[in-house]
Amino acid sequence: MTDADQSLSVRDNRTGKDYTLEITDGTLRAADFAKIRTDEDEPGLALYDPGFTNTASCRSAVTFIDGEKGILEYRGYPIEQLAEKSTFLEVAYLLIYGELPSKEQYEQWVHEITYHTFVHENVKGFMHGFRYDAHPMGMLMASVGALSTFYPESNDIKDADNRHLQIVRMIAKMPTLGAWAFRHAQGKPFVYPDNELSYTENFLSMLFRMSEQSYAADPRIAKALDVLFILHADHEQNCSTNAVRSVGSSQVDPYSSVAAGVAALYGPLHGGANEAVLKMLRRIGSKENIPDFIQGVKDGDERLMGFGHRVYKNYDPRAKIIKKACDDVFEVTGVNPLLEIAQELEKIALEDDYFVQRKLYPNVDFYSGLIYEALSFPPEMFTVLFAIGRTPGWLAQWLELVQDKEQKIARPKQIYTGDRTVDFVPREERWA
Ligand SMILES: CC(C)(COP(=O)(O)OP(=O)(O)OC[C@H]1O[C@@H](n2cnc3c(N)ncnc32)[C@H](O)[C@@H]1OP(=O)(O)O)[C@@H](O)C(=O)NCCC(=O)NCCS
Repeated sequence: MTDADQSLSVRDNRTGKDYTLEITDGTLRAADFAKIRTDEDEPGLALYDPGFTNTASCRSAVTFIDGEKGILEYRGYPIEQLAEKSTFLEVAYLLIYGELPSKEQYEQWVHEITYHTFVHENVKGFMHGFRYDAHPMGMLMASVGALSTFYPESNDIKDADNRHLQIVRMIAKMPTLGAWAFRHAQGKPFVYPDNELSYTENFLSMLFRMSEQSYAADPRIAKALDVLFILHADHEQNCSTNAVRSVGSSQVDPYSSVAAGVAALYGPLHGGANEAVLKMLRRIGSKENIPDFIQGVKDGDERLMGFGHRVYKNYDPRAKIIKKACDDVFEVTGVNPLLEIAQELEKIALEDDYFVQRKLYPNVDFYSGLIYEALSFPPEMFTVLFAIGRTPGWLAQWLELVQDKEQKIARPKQIYTGDRTVDFVPREERWA
C-alpha cells in the first residue's frame, strides 16, 4: 500500500469541496477536521464522542488489549506469563520503566519501595480525623491527595530523579494508607509497616496484625494477593487512567493526579462490579434457582453481573487466572459456599444462546469478590485493593504523559446547547 492509500477522501456537501485526510495507525487527526469549514470565519468541523468510545487520546506503549481475542499484555508480555512467573513489584517496574529489571535493578527497586512504606505521623493524625464509618475509598482518595502537601517538591515533574522518587513513594505508601483506612473502620490501632516482609506480606500484616510480634501471612494467601495486584496493574485508557492523565495534563504533581484516579475508581461503574456479583450470588441462594435467574436476565429484568465487558468480547484473560487463584485461596480459607453457584452459573451461561450471541463472558469481577470475601475483606475494601494494584499502571501512564511532547492540557470541546446573549433582568424586576 502506498502512502496515498493511507488517506480518507471526503466531500463536504455543504460547500461541494473535497478533502483528503491522512490516516495514521488507523486513526484520523481530529485537528484535520477543523480545516473543513463552510466559511473562513466559521469554526471547522469537530467530532462528538461522549465517553470517548471511539477517540484515541494518546499514543501509549504500556498496555495492549485485543478484546476480540481476549489478549492482555503489559509492555508486550502476556498477562498469563506475568501472573505465573513474575511478582507485583517486578511488573510495576516493567510497566513504569518499559523493561524487565536486571537483578541489581530489581533488588534496588524492592529495597527502595520497602524503605518508603512509612508515612509522616501527621498522615496518621489526618486519617484518625475521619468519621468512624468513613468509606475506606474516600479515606484513600483524600490521603493520597494529602501526600502532595508532605512532598511539595513533587510538583517538579520535569526532573527524572524527582519523578522516580515520587513513584517509589506512591507505590510504597498505598498499602499503608489502604490498610489504615481498613483499620480505622474497625476502631483498631494502625499497624506500622514491617520492612522485613514482602510487599503483600507487609500489607497483610498492616491489615490483620494484632498483638503478635510479627505477622506471618500464609504464603499461598500472600501469593494470591500478589497475583490479583498483577492482574489489576494496568488496563490501558480506562476511566481512572484517563482521569489520571487528564488531571496530570495540567502538570500538577503525581499525588494529585493519582488521587483523581482513586476518585474515578470509587464510582460503581468502574470499581464496584465484584460487590454486585456477591450480592447477586447471595440472592440466587442455591443452584436450583439458577434457571429462573437466567430467564430473568434474558427477559431483560436484570443483568448477570460479572459478565460482559466494553472491550472483551471473549473470556477476560484475567478471569481465567483469578478462577485458578480461587483454588489456592480456598485451600487455606475453606471454600466460599457461593463458589458452587458461581461455577454453575458460568457453565449454564456459557452454553446459553443469549450470552453466546452477545459474546458475554466472565470478566475480572466475576470471581475476584469471592476471593476477597474469603480473605475477610468487607465489600468497601474491594476497590481499595483494586487501587493498590492499579497504582503502577496509573504512574506508568502518567510518566508517559509527562514525557510525551505531543500531549497538551486536556480540554475537550463541547456542543453548546444553551441560550445566547440574554439581557440580565435585575432581581427587583424579576421578583416583582
Ligand atoms: C460491562 C458492561 C457495562 C459493558 O456494556 P456495553 O459494552 O455497553 O454493552 P451493552 O450494554 O451495549 O450490551 C450489549 C448487549 O448485551 C447485553 N448485556 C451486556 N451485559 C450483560 C449482562 N451482564 N447480562 C445480561 N445481558 C447483558 C445487553 O443487554 C445488550 O443486549 P441487546 O443487544 O439485546 O440490547 C455490561 O456488559 C454490564 O453491565 N456487565 C455487568 C456489570 C459488570 O460485570 N461490570 C464489570 C465490568 S469489568
